[in-house]
Amino acid sequence: MPLQLRSTITSDAKLNISLVEVAMPEPADNEIVVRVEATPINPSDLGLLFGAADRDTARVGPGPVVTADVPAGAMAGMAGRLDQSLPVGNEGAGTVVAAGASDEAQALMGKMVSVIGGAMYSEYRAVRANQCLEHDPGVTAAEAASWFVNPMTAQGMVETMRAEGHSALIHTAAASNLGQMLQKICLADGVDLVNIVRRPEQAALLRELGARHVCDSRAADFDAALTDALAETGATIAFDAIGGGDLASRILSAMEAAASRNATEYSRYGSDVHKQVYLYGGLDRGPTVIRREFGMIWGVGGWLLTPFLRNAEREVRNRLRARVRSEIKTTFASHYTQQVTLEGMLSEAAIGQYGRQATGEKYLVRPNGLD
Ligand SMILES: NC(=O)c1ccc[n+]([C@@H]2O[C@H](COP(=O)([O-])OP(=O)(O)OC[C@H]3O[C@@H](n4cnc5c(N)ncnc54)[C@H](OP(=O)(O)O)[C@@H]3O)[C@@H](O)[C@H]2O)c1
Repeated sequence: MPLQLRSTITSDAKLNISLVEVAMPEPADNEIVVRVEATPINPSDLGLLFGAADRDTARVGPGPVVTADVPAGAMAGMAGRLDQSLPVGNEGAGTVVAAGASDEAQALMGKMVSVIGGAMYSEYRAVRANQCLEHDPGVTAAEAASWFVNPMTAQGMVETMRAEGHSALIHTAAASNLGQMLQKICLADGVDLVNIVRRPEQAALLRELGARHVCDSRAADFDAALTDALAETGATIAFDAIGGGDLASRILSAMEAAASRNATEYSRYGSDVHKQVYLYGGLDRGPTVIRREFGMIWGVGGWLLTPFLRNAEREVRNRLRARVRSEIKTTFASHYTQQVTLEGMLSEAAIGQYGRQATGEKYLVRPNGLD
């Protein structure tokens, strides 16, 4: 029977990740069954895989099983998933090996498709035909695996910028897999982008892609350099993947300082430019610290891909998907440091590495075996 990875947090504050045997899925009329050949481990997958468990307490074995302790103070946040054996893995790609009776499903038989819908850390997965993206011949599962979460989010940022009346973007943790895609999109589309990173090698990586504005948050002149970049580009909307700490606040302050440079008269309420930061990730789980020193016209909010797509016009959704399909080997190419099987995901060394969410250390899971 096919294998599927499951994650459970029990009421007695233990995490258990294991492989279970599941029935081979049968496609309904409008469904296809995909042999999942490649699926990435993204930060959002780690959130479901480990929940609030303390990864330092993770123990492997006996067999392909990982256990860990959940701190008592974090259990309230886990109430919605207690004692449920949850499948994991947002997106992936593979070959269609069975199809339901509908014409749409039948047309996909034997094709390489990208899929979204969860439970991708499985050998086989049934999904609705309209949940997948068909690829041209020559596209591999590894190339097609990271097709939705990061590519659609990077495009969603540019769409949001335009829809909310801004003309340039700021992005943090900008050397991420997503950040590299965003840089390529902005260059192609003529959108100014100010990248914020925390190491010189990340700045070098982005400059090699063609980035014009990169600020290192650990540099002594960070606030001044950021203000200069914002004054030059006019960027008034930021997408922050970090969330914790005072970076969002410093970005708003730099936006205000940049706006004040062009002001003709003083206002005690600050500039009349709307300044927006969206926290769209939680790489730092600590509190978000806001020091209100940037006038009265600003906003800090959350941003999530799924509601963005739900609220977008069909034309927008179709356009973004079509771009992913045609640029899957270029703009939306992802790089992986390691490839592992489902069982390989559960080794101590692998958990230690993919759990770090470090630049260029993304893992690709191959549920049906390595090439
Ligand atoms: N809201 C949404 O709908 C949505 C959708 C897609 C993705 N996301 C978010 O997008 C972000 C990027 O995803 P990805 O797959 O592209 O990530 P990734 O390739 O794994 O890269 C993560 C990056 O974050 C940096 N980083 C990690 N912890 C950090 C911290 N505490 N402070 C500053 N930088 C830190 C790493 O740099 P170092 O090497 O220096 O550690 C690395 O460059 C994630 O936060 C993810 O959750 C959100």
